[in-house]
Amino acid sequence: MKHLVSINQLSAEDIIRLLDRAELFEQNPNRRLLEGRVIATLFFEPSTRTRLSFETAVNRLGGRVIGFSDATTSSSSKGESLKDTISMVANYADAIVMRHYLEGAALYASELDRAPIVNAGDGANQHPSQTLLDLYSIRKTQGSLEGKTIALVGDLKYGRTVHSLIVGLSHFHPSFIFVSPPELRMPEEYKDFCRQHEIPFVETTDFSSEVIQSVDILYMTRVQRERFIDLEEYERVKNVYILTREMLSGCRDNLRVLHPLPRVGEIAQDVDDTPQAYYVQQAQNGLYARQSILCEVLGIEVVQ
Ligand code: CP
Repeated sequence: MKHLVSINQLSAEDIIRLLDRAELFEQNPNRRLLEGRVIATLFFEPSTRTRLSFETAVNRLGGRVIGFSDATTSSSSKGESLKDTISMVANYADAIVMRHYLEGAALYASELDRAPIVNAGDGANQHPSQTLLDLYSIRKTQGSLEGKTIALVGDLKYGRTVHSLIVGLSHFHPSFIFVSPPELRMPEEYKDFCRQHEIPFVETTDFSSEVIQSVDILYMTRVQRERFIDLEEYERVKNVYILTREMLSGCRDNLRVLHPLPRVGEIAQDVDDTPQAYYVQQAQNGLYARQSILCEVLGIEVVQ
């Protein structure tokens, strides 16, 4: 695999290989596997976890990082095209990790075929490295990826993490409950995907105790202000679901609460010290998943 653009390109075997390798990095994240390599991180949209965990991944593997976290400091602010930006950076770096506000930007960059491209999020489309760390977190907390029941809660329309997660889990016989306000329903494209793959799902607007008590994973998401054209609509739906500690009573013993983060108001602070809260460790798993991805696109073997 030279590029990681979409979770759709990964088979079940690819996913298991990437997760098994991430486990090796969890055992020891400090290996000199990227010595002499330069990795570029080009972030045309804000990020904390994705950029810093990719950069930490490179640093802990002995490589060097170049790039920008704010595109206004790059020549794209002078009108340089994405094609020219990627072609230039490929002159300097061995691989490019990029986040862009346009859906399809990473695919376009990969088709230039100048350097391995890792999609760190393209608009409301996909976030495949997030999905791999989510799958890693599910496997780690549940013992397996097989046959899990997952509630996806919040912004299912614009949430690229939930879109990628449906595809990533599709190999492992999941069932889904989609919980969203009507304005932020799961797009038809992903419901059709579920139908085609015989993945059972139900849709509801009601974030009820029945939902919480019937799932293995509660995957909360932020309502993303930056994706709304109509800010009045954002104001109407922004606080529609708030998970509190009280709502977790009667949940399954194995239930874990995941969230790609950042959160704004959708998980109350009193959830943080419950045994179900896993979102901080989930973000930590991003380091290992991203070390695994970088070695994959660069063709670097990892041994015990
Ligand atoms: N989960 C995630 O993508 O977080 P950042 O936006 O902080 O990178």
